[in-house]
Order: sequence, then structure tokens, then C-alpha cells
Amino acid sequence: MESQVHSKVQEYYGGIAKSITEGQNKSCCGCGSTGNQSCCDGISSSAVIYNGENLSDLPKEAVDASLGCANPLVFARLEKGETVLDLGSGGGINVLMAAKHVGETGKVYGLDMTDEMLALARSNQEKMGVKNVEFIKGFIEDIPLKNEAMDVIISNCVINLSDDKPKAISEAYRVLKKGGRIAIADIVNLKPVSADIKSQTDLWCGCIAGTLELQEYRSILEKAGFHDIEINPAHVYTREVIEQLFGNSPEYKTSGVDMDKVDGAFAGAYIKAVK
Ligand SMILES: C[S@@+](CC[C@H](N)C(=O)[O-])C[C@H]1O[C@@H](n2cnc3c(N)ncnc32)[C@H](O)[C@@H]1O
Repeated sequence: MESQVHSKVQEYYGGIAKSITEGQNKSCCGCGSTGNQSCCDGISSSAVIYNGENLSDLPKEAVDASLGCANPLVFARLEKGETVLDLGSGGGINVLMAAKHVGETGKVYGLDMTDEMLALARSNQEKMGVKNVEFIKGFIEDIPLKNEAMDVIISNCVINLSDDKPKAISEAYRVLKKGGRIAIADIVNLKPVSADIKSQTDLWCGCIAGTLELQEYRSILEKAGFHDIEINPAHVYTREVIEQLFGNSPEYKTSGVDMDKVDGAFAGAYIKAVK
């Protein structure tokens, strides 16, 4: 099941997890940008993404490891007692927050394929002392959980990294109970962008190379069997936002991207659907 993309992504996120564990750098760049400190002061910082959520009882390392692009808990509407799975749980920020929402009678699983991220997440769980959480190793394209076991699936800026998105979405469908829901935050394309532009942009902002257009995303969800699909682009990456986020990074300055083509082409979206 392990692919070249998996290895590349594991190496990249493993490095980020290691540096956080060693207290070397603060990786607040949304969705795994280049990791350059200069790009870490923009809208993707955890304080902005999780505006309104109480992050003060989370370990600092969990907040520092936030690599998402929006807050899936805003629209997941988690209830006490629910069983939740977070696809690509990273350092565990969404899992640990979800654990508070579902309470002691609920349970939250975090699934990730990167050992260093799992170690960081487990250490964050221990620091927080939460019992209703379990971090498991595996691929989102081959979820190691049984059929129809979850009430809700959340995910934050991970599906775009998958090299087999239809499989990842159909696996999400398989493990959801009938009537269960997904609440995914992800980067999407708002207009067609060439593969060249995507890979240039990916140099300074990760999570771009594999983004889908809205209709493609909807079609994958429909084919998997989901209904009541809603895809709302919540944070549009306009030229101004991009300049604010990445303007100081050397990768941005040297990437030579035609900004007219990138302006407004990508957005952090809220994606909801029901099984
Ligand atoms: C951009 S980070 C997001 C982490 C977390 N969701 C957050 O909001 O901070 C992506 C995470 O997804 C994991 N990941 C990427 N592709 C994956 C796959 N195919 N299967 C399992 N985990 C994956 C990576 O190891 C990494 O921890």
C-alpha cells in the first residue's frame, strides 16, 4: 500500500514532527508549507484557524504542530458520546479538541501514517491526560478499522495529499455508520490551474499540488455514495492573502509563479456530506 507519495509525505511531516519534539521550530504554516519561519505569521496560524476554540488546555506542542487549513470542528457538530475518526491526525490538535466535545462517553481515533507524528500526538495526549483518544497507524486509503464503526469523520488538510483520493473517500464511507457524516477541511481549486503552476506553488505552500476542483471533489463524494454534499470555500487565497502569508519566504520570491494565475485560485474549504 505504501506509495512513493506516501514516502515523500512521511519524510516531510516526520521532519516537522521531529523539529517540534526537539523544540527547534514552530511549524504553524498551514497545511505544511515550506516550514519557513517567515511564512508562519499569517492566517494559517492556529490562533486564527481555531478562533473561538479554547486552546489553552492543549499542550503547546499540539498547538505548534497545527498544520491544518481550517477548523473542521466548526461544522462537525460533535455531540457527547459520539465516535469520531480524524484522518491524518498529525500532532493531534483536532483529535484532542474533538475529545472535549464528545466527552468521556465518546471516543476519538486519530489515524496517521507518519511514526514521528504519531509519537508527538501520543505524547500530547499523555500531557493532556485524556483517556477517550487513541492514535493508530495506517493509511487513509486503507483504514484499519471495521465497517460502520464511526459516527463522524473529520480531517484537516490531508485528503489533498492523497495519491488515491477516491479510495480515501470510499474508505471513509465504509467505516461510517449509516447516517454518519464527514466534516473535512481541505484546500480546493476555485478555477483550473495547470500542473506546472501547482508544482511551482507547492514549493512555497504545501497541500497545493494535489488539490481538486470543486466539481471533482463533489463527484468523488457522490461516487462513494455520500449525499447532502456541501463544499464551501471559506478562506480564499487571494494575491493579498498569499503575499501576507508567504511574501517573505525565499521559496515564494524565487518560485517565479505568475500571480495572475494563482490569485483566487485556491481556497481552504469546508466539506460536509452524509452517508
Ligand atoms: C498537513 S498535516 C495535517 C495534520 C493535522 N490534520 C492538523 O490539522 O494539524 C498532514 C498529516 O496527514 C498525514 N498523512 C498524509 N497523507 C496520509 C495518508 N495517505 N495516510 C495517513 N496519513 C497521512 C501526514 O503524516 C501528516 O501528519
